[in-house]
Amino acid sequence: MTDDPSFIHLQGVAKSYGRGGERLPIFDGLSLDIPRGDFVAVMGPSGSGKSTLLNLLAGLDTAEAGQVSIGGFDLSAMGEGARGRWRTEMLGIVFQFYNLLPMLTAAENVELPLLLRPLSKRERRERVATVLRLLGLEARARHYPRQMSGGQQQRVGIARAIVTDPALLLCDEPTGDLDRASADEALAMLDLLNRELGKTIVMVTHDPAAAGVARRVLHLDKGTFRPEGTEAAR
Ligand SMILES: Nc1ncnc2c1ncn2[C@@H]1O[C@H](COP(=O)(O)OP(=O)(O)OP(=O)(O)O)[C@@H](O)[C@H]1O
Ligand SMILES: [Mg+2]
Repeated sequence: MTDDPSFIHLQGVAKSYGRGGERLPIFDGLSLDIPRGDFVAVMGPSGSGKSTLLNLLAGLDTAEAGQVSIGGFDLSAMGEGARGRWRTEMLGIVFQFYNLLPMLTAAENVELPLLLRPLSKRERRERVATVLRLLGLEARARHYPRQMSGGQQQRVGIARAIVTDPALLLCDEPTGDLDRASADEALAMLDLLNRELGKTIVMVTHDPAAAGVARRVLHLDKGTFRPEGTEAAR
């Protein structure tokens, strides 16, 4: 698991947004290495670039300069189509507001990413059942999102993210919409996926309890990472 010290490798990454004819720089030479099997929480004030970072890691956005490489694939050198295939193979994403489709049951929502795969209906059903069982959701399989609590919906969101067995899980504020008890349940799931299944997890969060579950906390501030173990400047 630790034989791959730069499973995620960012080197000299630059990214800016256009704003009324001007460029708003977000990152200018950002570098980062995350080994396979790590569980990293990214914290930082609003506007520090956390979602921008996740979009770069997901290959949903591209760097203007520098390198973003994940699992040996140099995303900065790949075209849109290749990045899409890479994402299907490598990535699961967990969102703050679950993003479940309201007209599909829990099992159907979890099955969605498998429809892109060459699997039989039976194979898909077996995989969905396995993941629902892992997340303690067997009894919810036929329930629709509106029939479930926020915590249950987020567990369905996590099930959908891992049903393709991706190596990397990206989470944007996964507990941001949950009460404490539900948040702790979702965090226990992420902890299990990291420890038992070796998933590499990068999680953006404002929740100190969520950061406490991660193995490492990175503090993003004005587009750079604060050295680990230092306090915020006042
Ligand atoms: N598409 C865009 N066009 C222009 N500016 C953008 C765009 N996306 C983000 N920004 C700006 O870039 C900066 C970083 O945004 P980002 O969304 O990465 O921050 P964040 O750390 O995720 O913040 P939050 O905690 O509020 O979610 C902000 O100043 C934001 O206004
Ligand atoms: Mg954000």
